[in-house]
Amino acid sequence: MGNKYRKLASLHGDAVSKCTLPIVVWCLVGCVLIIHFYTSIFYGDGEEGDIPVRLNSHLLTRDLEKIEEESFFIQPPRVKRSPRAIKRKPKPKRHLSIIEEFLDENSQFRHLFFPDRRMAVGPMNNTDNDELNFYPGRIWLDTNGEPIQAHGGGILYVDRFKTYYWYGENKDGPTYHAHQRASARVDVIGISCYSSKDLWTWKNEGIVLAVEQTNMTHDLYKLNVLERPKVIYNDKTEKYIMWMHIDDANYTKASVGIAISETPVGPFEYLYSKQPHGFDSRDMTIFKDDSGIAYVIYSSEGNSELHVGPLTDDYLDVTHEMRRILVGHRREAPALFKYQGTYYMITSGCSGWAPNEALAHAAESIMGPWETIGNPCTGGNRIFRHTTFFAQSTYVLPLPGIPGSFIFMADRWNPADLRDSRYVWLPLTVGGAADEPLEYSFRFPLWSRVSIYWHRKWKLPNAVSFNR
Ligand code: GAL
Repeated sequence: MGNKYRKLASLHGDAVSKCTLPIVVWCLVGCVLIIHFYTSIFYGDGEEGDIPVRLNSHLLTRDLEKIEEESFFIQPPRVKRSPRAIKRKPKPKRHLSIIEEFLDENSQFRHLFFPDRRMAVGPMNNTDNDELNFYPGRIWLDTNGEPIQAHGGGILYVDRFKTYYWYGENKDGPTYHAHQRASARVDVIGISCYSSKDLWTWKNEGIVLAVEQTNMTHDLYKLNVLERPKVIYNDKTEKYIMWMHIDDANYTKASVGIAISETPVGPFEYLYSKQPHGFDSRDMTIFKDDSGIAYVIYSSEGNSELHVGPLTDDYLDVTHEMRRILVGHRREAPALFKYQGTYYMITSGCSGWAPNEALAHAAESIMGPWETIGNPCTGGNRIFRHTTFFAQSTYVLPLPGIPGSFIFMADRWNPADLRDSRYVWLPLTVGGAADEPLEYSFRFPLWSRVSIYWHRKWKLPNAVSFNR
């Protein structure tokens, strides 16, 4: 038996040695081909301007895609109990969850979520060579040294001026509760606009859509709600169009509002509000497609689903076409973007100012069907990933010159003092297989993965072309 085995083994060995030479030759040929393929892709044929598109964008964004871990650990408080109390039936002591801790303005861990003014970043505070570094969650100062007030916002790039405009809610007022059960609020102040050439240095352009102080019937009356402004440019009418969420203090009006301006820095003229397609509309966004057709996407039917529909050619109204998407999923805070013909969207769950888990969705057509492809948050730690880094999506901005790379913009709401809510901007890339392959795809990934990478500090790669 032993001999037989040895014989078989030696026969096998002969066969292997006979095969070795051709295998080695073919391996060498393979290597040469791979090297040739690699050099032709990465170094091209020397044509200028070709490089950003042909270069694997992963090389440019490698730093942004580093997995940065956070050893963020909140120890449960030790409760000393008297021997008498121990004899009594122990009443289970409930520890604050990390989200409750985050929401508690007296928490001893508050500085972890809301670092104080000494840690502020911005062009006037550039003490230790920190220029152009993003620090998610820290106070961000404008060119006057004031904290930026542009919450729930979005960004418009205007090619004519080679400038980015950031529009958002100005919440620079006292936080209060309209009644006992109402969520925290700040009276309407208006929509701020900031301008920048590099996405880091922001100049305050003032309030471009202002509050109505006295007329109680006006949508923009100070005791109402004005949230999530987004601006797009209409090439036909040459006007800047702002859509926003308009509501009353109890969130029962549930409408969109529309305003128009000749210039990106306003003043915007408020036109009217309506319930799009006759449905309630709360968190919303608008998206201008490459074709020039723009769409509105809003949470509806009591936030249980999203609706999507094209706008009229002048972007001042919706058309009759509308599709219900992610029905029953209860998602809000939609932020849409497009890459290589596929539409992507990041949404949050519905938990008011409290953070929750983000999800990414993808679709071949913006009108749906939309598929959920998983939680895009990467790095940090489990709690960071399950709370969207303690923030909520508001916008996704494509990075100029790096296809497949974006900035994910989110709000770290501070319901104890809403004016002190922070911005969490992080790199977002599209690539690799999605985490949640669809059931009918037999685990064969149909969509690319969307990844948002946690960074305590990060910078845009040099390859970002700002055309300054
Ligand atoms: C959130 C929403 C915010 C704001 C908040 C008020 O669900 O995303 O924009 O409306 O509720 O509690």
